[in-house]
Amino acid sequence: MTRVFVPRDALAIAVGADAVAAAIARACPEVSILRNGSRGMAWLEPFVEVETEGGRVGYGPIEAGDVAGLVAAGFLAGGAHEKRVGRAEDVPFFARQTRVTFSRCGLTDPVSIADYKAFGGLKGLERALGMGREAIVDEVTKSGLRGRGGAGFPTGIKWRTVMGAQAAQKYIVCNADEGDSGTFADRMVMEGDPFLLIEGMIIAGIAVGATRGYVYLRSEYPQSVLTMNQAVAVARHEGVLGPHVLGSEHAFELEVRVGAGAYVCGEETSLLDSLEGKRGQVRAKPPLPALQGFLGQPTVVNNVLSLAAVPDILAGGAEAYQALGVGRSRGTMPVQLAGNILRGGLFEVPFGITLGELVLDIGGGTASGRPVRAVQVGGPLGAYFPPSLFDTVFDYEAFAARDGLIGHGGVVVFDDTVDMAHMARFAMEFCSIESCGKCTPCRIGSTRGVEVIDRILDGDVGQLALLEDLCDTMKFGSLCALGGFTPYPVMSAVRHFGEDFRRAVPALAAE
Ligand SMILES: Cc1cc2nc3c(=O)[nH]c(=O)nc-3n(C[C@H](O)[C@H](O)[C@H](O)COP(=O)(O)O)c2cc1C
Ligand code: SF4
Repeated sequence: MTRVFVPRDALAIAVGADAVAAAIARACPEVSILRNGSRGMAWLEPFVEVETEGGRVGYGPIEAGDVAGLVAAGFLAGGAHEKRVGRAEDVPFFARQTRVTFSRCGLTDPVSIADYKAFGGLKGLERALGMGREAIVDEVTKSGLRGRGGAGFPTGIKWRTVMGAQAAQKYIVCNADEGDSGTFADRMVMEGDPFLLIEGMIIAGIAVGATRGYVYLRSEYPQSVLTMNQAVAVARHEGVLGPHVLGSEHAFELEVRVGAGAYVCGEETSLLDSLEGKRGQVRAKPPLPALQGFLGQPTVVNNVLSLAAVPDILAGGAEAYQALGVGRSRGTMPVQLAGNILRGGLFEVPFGITLGELVLDIGGGTASGRPVRAVQVGGPLGAYFPPSLFDTVFDYEAFAARDGLIGHGGVVVFDDTVDMAHMARFAMEFCSIESCGKCTPCRIGSTRGVEVIDRILDGDVGQLALLEDLCDTMKFGSLCALGGFTPYPVMSAVRHFGEDFRRAVPALAAE
């Protein structure tokens, strides 16, 4: 029976994938429609693929109204059509990637464990079951994996701390709050290859001696909640989760918990409070969550991408992962290209590519066709980079050296119509709305920051010095990175796009 793939990913569904699948089912009752994950080429969604003798042939972006034309063109045999893309692997955007974490995404039925195994799944877990705890943690440490949630903290070191802690119960908490602007890689893993995350969490549990795990999943991702819950049920039924993981003496249970809808609940200690049923508020550190985390017990808190990198590290060995990347940034980064960009989507690549290559060569520049003026990397707390800094290499240290951050790998592009003073105000306003209120520099500072920027926009450019002063106070005095990093987008806008702040005083705007 011919198989036709129509993604069940939230992006594909948002642009009509369900209607396309229904139209194909009506027009071609003889075919089997498989709802896969997304291949990550957002501009081609819904991206429909047909399995032919010569491999999968893709068409996109497809609307329900295109289906009759596709049938007439003989798409079930890969026939010519104006929306025929050909093999996904031959699209330059795809061909230039090194897919490790996303190697399977889009190829399989996300909730079929048979598909998962057929495409190399569970090999990392099987190997881990034959290794001691120490050896697993060593392997992850040697791989050079650093946390993909934002801070870039070495995963192996975190795991070692939890492994060494004495407690009757330890936990693995997956941070799937994914609140950064322009990011969607966690969502794509959960909707396109959920067993990968489950496998990574089980390996983490075996390594540190934790038998329970939670996925804290943001409430704005209902499709991820659905797919993750389906995958957890299948994994339990197949003995991947439960009292005897793959028939071993190791137990691991997993639950999906839906988040509270606040950006700050992505911060790990706030997340733990929220997971415990409290209002999400940042906890002072120490104690580290690794020692006193969920319910006061030793807890690994890792991002989805960090945990999803682990099965391949175990399956392929630390050396293979470590061989990719530059400097202290090892392995691959699933970069997310978004905003005003011609070809947006998920681009997994070893660290070391430049920002300019990502935005201009891979992404094709702006969707509007106007010149790129600014790029924000690393979410709402990331700095704005002008094209003059496009030689910056994607590497944690290289971005830090230019007062920026990679964060979760989100790249949001703006064209030359953007008003950067407005964006600086937006960053302060965002902080004031999302602040958990625990510390003064952030709670009060962000509100004062909005007022100061408003005065600057009214022409009082003397207030720029006050803004810098305030940013210093927030940077060095805040308890967590929400208040501590808001100065990065604000001050990068002042530094690189100063003319936008002087616009109210025409004589100064020319300076
Ligand atoms: C305001 C704020 C929001 C955050 N949001 C997220 C998030 O959505 N997802 C995430 O993984 N980490 C987020 N982090 C980082 C976490 O606190 C923590 O560093 C991370 O979950 C650790 O996992 P990792 O080591 O695998 O990166 C956020 C941090 C701050 C300060
Ligand atoms: S910086 Fe802001 S979000 Fe973080 S603890 Fe302080 S008030 Fe809360």
